[in-house]
Amino acid sequence: MKGKKEQFSNRFAVIAAMAGSAIGLGNIWRFPYMVGENGGGAFVIVYLICSVFLALPCFFSEAILGRHSGTGIMGIVKSKFPEGKLNFLGVLCILSPVLILSFYSIVGGWSLEYLVKAIAGDFNSMSETESVRVFNDYSSSVWRPILTHFVFLTTTAVVVSLGVKKGIEKFNKIIMPVLFVLMVLIVVFSMSLPGAEAGLSYILKPDFSKIDADVICDALGQSFFSLSLGMGTILVYSTFMKKSESIIGSGVLTVVFDTAFAILAGLAIMPAVFSAGIGPSSGPGLVYETLPYIFSSMGTVSPTVGYLVPLLFFLAVLMAALTSEISMFEVIYEYLRYDRLYSKKKAILTVFLIGFLIGIPCSMSFGVLKGFTLWGLTLFDLADFTTSNFLMFIGSLLFCMIVGWKMKKEEVYMEITNNGEKKFAKLIFKPLYLWIRYVLPFGIIIIFLTNLFV
Ligand code: PHE
Repeated sequence: MKGKKEQFSNRFAVIAAMAGSAIGLGNIWRFPYMVGENGGGAFVIVYLICSVFLALPCFFSEAILGRHSGTGIMGIVKSKFPEGKLNFLGVLCILSPVLILSFYSIVGGWSLEYLVKAIAGDFNSMSETESVRVFNDYSSSVWRPILTHFVFLTTTAVVVSLGVKKGIEKFNKIIMPVLFVLMVLIVVFSMSLPGAEAGLSYILKPDFSKIDADVICDALGQSFFSLSLGMGTILVYSTFMKKSESIIGSGVLTVVFDTAFAILAGLAIMPAVFSAGIGPSSGPGLVYETLPYIFSSMGTVSPTVGYLVPLLFFLAVLMAALTSEISMFEVIYEYLRYDRLYSKKKAILTVFLIGFLIGIPCSMSFGVLKGFTLWGLTLFDLADFTTSNFLMFIGSLLFCMIVGWKMKKEEVYMEITNNGEKKFAKLIFKPLYLWIRYVLPFGIIIIFLTNLFV
């Protein structure tokens, strides 16, 4: 570890990077649909409760561990369990960013393709069936998605290779505010469409009768995925955090921005979907099939709007995906660079190659490998499913157990309160510490088991 640590320059840089990791495709294509299907405003309340009581303490644990140790996952596991018995857990924790990096890059590549299409004005007067066909043709072809995957991952590699300050920090500081402005613009536009109220009430109207154990589990899974927990991204970013920055403040602000952005995305997408008289959906179907058609119908109202809105939208999707991808790339890069002592060039190239190669079969699972399934899932779905249902929770459990049971109480206190300086943190330290030590691990185990058996 010697000779390094670059640090984020200030609070804004920390928040931009962490929110950059958190805000991604999860916010755009999963959250709005989940909210609408699971009770609207009622789901948002459940989601917030899950975020505050489980996700946020996990966020704090990762941040405490990262800043305290100054090393990545494997370094921590090795130093806390020197006998080496738990090294496999460290490996599992590296495996999840590897998998997400690979399949996320495929979808990131799609947004690049769609941005190019928007620039070329391809969404003018597209029928619904045509929109579905265009997406199927593209995603099931072999070379084109691999090319966009390549470009997306290369951009990520370039940003990471520029370093923490000149790469990650600078990129996030520019992109994140732009992303918010873009989303607000799209929201304003979407809400002004005729019939938009139906979309608004789909997202916001509370219906508590829809809340059951399944919905609560979904809300938890979504909050962990959306906050990028259990993969070491928050952990690694926290190693770049100055001792004077507040861990509590960074966590709370990241949750606030992440949730606000997810709701904004819902308000941007759903009113437009309802206004076009189409049933809401989620995932690729929503972003790459339904929305292009809606955008194209806007062209009949005003050609400028029909041209600009899809362009801004896919630009926003691309930016959100890139800032998340960068955080995953960085986790694996840090591991190779500082744990395995690879040279910078070799580490960047290795992460790139791993992500690129694993991404290829994931991409092909929309085309030639569509029929190839394991446990009923295509390779893409399998990578998504294993990470968001299992690996993420194993990582989170490991991190909070180390903070609660392996770190000294004083060390945790010093990190949380910035050496006793933060008044609010001092006030909540005791309950928070007890929560992380005794309640959080059980909470995570229960979600894990529910995901496994229910
Ligand atoms: N939080 C990101 C999203 O919502 C996904 C992500 C998961 C990024 C894990 C980094 C690590 O899309």
